[in-house]
Amino acid sequence: MSATTPHILEERGNGVLTLRIQRPDKKNALTVAMYDRLREAVAAADADPDVRAILITGTADCFTAGNDLQDFQERATSATPRPSAGLRMIEALMACDTPLVAAVNGLAIGIGTTMLPHCDFVYAGRSAVFRTPFVDLGLCPEAASSLLLPLVAGPRRAADLLLAGEAMNAEEAAACGLVSRVVDDAETEAQALAQAERLARKPVASVRLTKRLLRRFWAAAMAETLDYEREQFAARLKSEDAQAALAAFFARSSGR
Ligand code: COA
Repeated sequence: MSATTPHILEERGNGVLTLRIQRPDKKNALTVAMYDRLREAVAAADADPDVRAILITGTADCFTAGNDLQDFQERATSATPRPSAGLRMIEALMACDTPLVAAVNGLAIGIGTTMLPHCDFVYAGRSAVFRTPFVDLGLCPEAASSLLLPLVAGPRRAADLLLAGEAMNAEEAAACGLVSRVVDDAETEAQALAQAERLARKPVASVRLTKRLLRRFWAAAMAETLDYEREQFAARLKSEDAQAALAAFFARSSGR
C-alpha cells in the first residue's frame, strides 16, 4: 500500500480503491487530517472512471476507536466553532455513487459504527464489536445515525446502541441488519475485496444508478438529520457532561 497521507493508506487494483485506516498506537482513532484524506479520496474516486468500487477497512484487529477524543476536546474548548471533519467525510460517503464496501475486524466505535449504514456492504470478522457511546460521553448521535440505525437495525437495536451505549457483537449486528456477512477474522478483508471486485466487473452505469435509487427515498431525510444532529452535537460538545467525560478518558490514559 502507498502511504499518501499518514494513517490513511491507499491501494488500487482490479477497479477497486482500498482505503485503510492505520493508526494502531491510537486504536485507529480518526483525526481531522485522516477524515480529510478519506473525504478527498472518496470524492476523487467517485469521479474516476477507473474506480468502480471502494473498500474501507482498518487494521487486522481494529477498525477504528472513532473520532480522536483529543480533537473533540479541542473543539469543546475552542472559542471559534470548527466544522466537523468527520461529518464532511460522511457527506462524501452520502454523495458517492460508487459502491462502498466496509471490512471490519475488532473495534468499531462511534463513527466507526455510524459510517457503516452509509456503506452498501459490511463484512465483519467474528471479533468485531460495534459501540456508540455518545450518551456516556455527554454527546448525542451523529452521521444521521438517529435516522439510519433505526432504519437498518430496527428501533430496539438502535436504542440498545445509541441510548444505552451497549456493545453489539458481529453475530448480533448481522442478525439486525447492520452487517451484511460475518466471516472469520482472517478472511474479512479478502471476502470484502472479492465483493468489491465483483461489483467492479458489473455494468458501471447500472450499478451507480441502482445505488442511487436504493437511497433516493431517504436522501432528503438523511441530509436533514445530519444537519440537525450536527448542531445538537456541537452544543453537547461544549456541555459540562461532555467536558467531564473527555477529561476522565484522558485522566485514565495518563494515569497508567
Ligand atoms: N481518541 C484518541 N485516542 C484514543 C482513542 C480515541 N478515540 N481511543 C483510544 N485512544 C488511545 C488511548 O488514549 C491510548 O493512548 P496512549 O497509549 O497514548 O495512552 C491508545 O489509544 C490505546 O488505547 P487504550 O485505551 O489503552 O486501549 P484499550 O484496548 O484499553 O481500550 C478502547 C480501547 C478503544 C476501548 C478505549 O481506548 C476507548 O474507549 N477509547 C475511546 C473510544 C471512544 O469513546 N470513541 C469516540 C466515540 S464518539
